[in-house]
Amino acid sequence: MKVLPATMGLLVLTTALAGSAIAANAAPARGPGWTGLTNPQDVITARQALMEHIEELMEPIDTIQVSDTVDAEKLHAAAEPIAAMLLAVPHLFPPTTNRYDPKVLMPVTLALPWIWKDFGSFYTLAAASARAAEVMATAQGKEPLRVASRQLRASCDACHTLYLRKYNPPKVQDSDYQFDFDSALRKQ
Ligand code: HEC
Repeated sequence: MKVLPATMGLLVLTTALAGSAIAANAAPARGPGWTGLTNPQDVITARQALMEHIEELMEPIDTIQVSDTVDAEKLHAAAEPIAAMLLAVPHLFPPTTNRYDPKVLMPVTLALPWIWKDFGSFYTLAAASARAAEVMATAQGKEPLRVASRQLRASCDACHTLYLRKYNPPKVQDSDYQFDFDSALRKQ
């Protein structure tokens, strides 16, 4: 058998890989249920609403880092739905929702394009976060609950650090200090 020259072998391989990448990225035929195609903005709204509610449920879980009392039942009741919600999270990121615009002050989505460059890692981080919530939902005892709470929050931060646009608080400018409050107030 004649051995292919190395460059030719590489060419065959890259062509094959390109073919499979195209197949993987091929958009599904339009049809009922492909909401990523028909309603991408609704998908973005849904994942943002989900995240906001996860954040609300996190309140008692975060609080035990600084409070003396730990109500295990209440914490389990908050962590259980968080785990279920986090299982849904990665499925709300079809490529049609890669719409982050860095030039806009209030972008329609804060999800960075890296998500779709490295979807495997994104998917893994979502699963890890869901698992951390499950641990929180069953942990017993003050210290184990505190540890689980820290790890759950760390799992949110791990994903946000990589894939969520950083929040840039408005910076205080020198001109702010020199602002003439007296005359501004007098004008009113
Ligand atoms: C696998 C990645 C990932 C994990 C894990 C994750 N998030 Fe998020 N989160 C995102 C992305 C991406 C967005 C931006 C969504 C958008 O704007 O489209 C977001 C947005 C948010 C927002 C802002 C929602 C808004 O109003 O736009 C909050 C609050 C939030 N996440 C809380 C949490 C909390 C709390 C956890 C952990 C319990 C968590 N997230 C876990 C990826 C993640």
